[in-house]
Amino acid sequence: MQLGYASHIFQVFTLADTQYLCGMPSLQEQIQVLEQEINAFNPTDANELEQFRIKFLGTKGLVKQLSTEMKSVPPEGRREAGLMLNNFKKLAEGKYEAFSQLKDAAPSGGPTVDITLPGASIPAGTRHPLKVVENEIVSIFERLGFSVATGPEIEDDWHNFTSLNMPEHHTARDMQDTFYVAQNPDWVLRTHTSSVQARILETQPLPVRIICPGRVYRNETISARAHCFFHQCEGLYVDKNVSFADLKQTLYYFVTEMFGTDTKVRFRPSYFPFTEPSAEMDISCTVCSGSGCSLCKHTGWVEILGCGMVHPNMLRNFGIDPDEYTGFAFGMGVERITQIKFQVNDLRLYSQNDVRFLKQFQGL
Ligand code: PHE
Repeated sequence: MQLGYASHIFQVFTLADTQYLCGMPSLQEQIQVLEQEINAFNPTDANELEQFRIKFLGTKGLVKQLSTEMKSVPPEGRREAGLMLNNFKKLAEGKYEAFSQLKDAAPSGGPTVDITLPGASIPAGTRHPLKVVENEIVSIFERLGFSVATGPEIEDDWHNFTSLNMPEHHTARDMQDTFYVAQNPDWVLRTHTSSVQARILETQPLPVRIICPGRVYRNETISARAHCFFHQCEGLYVDKNVSFADLKQTLYYFVTEMFGTDTKVRFRPSYFPFTEPSAEMDISCTVCSGSGCSLCKHTGWVEILGCGMVHPNMLRNFGIDPDEYTGFAFGMGVERITQIKFQVNDLRLYSQNDVRFLKQFQGL
C-alpha cells in the first residue's frame, strides 16, 4: 500500500489509498471539492487568474499531481478515474480561458489604457500669417542682394529719432506716438525699424544693402485699423551713385514678385525727416483691380509703403560724406501687406491667437 503524501497545496491521496484509509476523502471526493472551488472562482485581475493557473494547471499544479496518482489506481478503476480527471482538467482550463482577457488588462487600480488604439495625432501648427508674409518680403529683397539686419526693440533716442534727422522738439516726432520707458527718459520702444538702419550705418562699412524686419510700437488706441504694436520691413541701400531710379526699380521688382506682374504702381510725393525727396507708393487694388472696393476705399489704389533718398543730414550723422555716397530707404508695414494679400480686415486678429483664424494659413 502506498500512503498518500501531503502536497503543499492540497492533500492528495491515491484512489487505491482511499479504499484502505477510512475517513480520508477519495479521489472523487477531492475532485468534487476542487470542482466547486473552480466553479466559484471569479477573478477580478490578472494576478488572481495567474494564481489560479499555477494552482490548477501549472507544472506542479493539481491537475498534474492528480494525474501522477493514476499510476497507482488499479486497472479496473482507471477508466473511471481517467474520465473524472479529464473533466476536472477541462473545467480548470475552461475557467482559465473564460477570464483570459484579464491577462491583457492593466493591473487593478492603475489606469486602463487600450494599447491597441491608434496613437493620438499631434496637430501640426501653422506659421503666423505675418511671419509668412515677412518671410516672403525678406526673400524677395534677398534675391536682390539685400541681407537681413535686426536690432533691439527698446531703443535709445539717438537711434530711433535724433540720428534720423529728428532732433529733440522736431515736430515729426509727433507722427509716431511714442512709448517711453519710465525708468529712463532716453529709452523708447522703437517706433520704426529705421533704428536698425541707424545702427548698421554706425557700425558697418559701406556699401550697405539691408532689409530690417521687426516689431515696432506706437501709442495708438487699439481698433480694427490701428494697434499699439505692429511689424515693419524697412530697407536701406547706401553706395556710390545710388539714385531714385534704383529705388523705383527695386520697388517695382518687389511689387511684381509680391502681387503679380499685372499690378500697377504710382508714387506720391510725401514727407519723412530722414529722406529727401520722399514718396509714398501705392499699388493698383488687388481685390477690385481698380473698379472700386472697400480695401481701396473706392479709389482703385492702396498705399503700401513710404520711401525716399536718404537725407544728407542722416548720412552726415554717421560720418558719411553725402557728396560721395547716396542711398535710398523704404519702409512698409507687414500687417498692411498681409491685409492686401489675404484680405484680413481687422488688425486685432493678428494678435488674438484665435486658432480658427490661424488655421486658414495652414501649409503656407
Ligand atoms: N520709418 C518710416 C515709418 O515708420 C517708413 C520709412 C522708412 C519711410 C524709410 C521712408 C524711408 O513710417
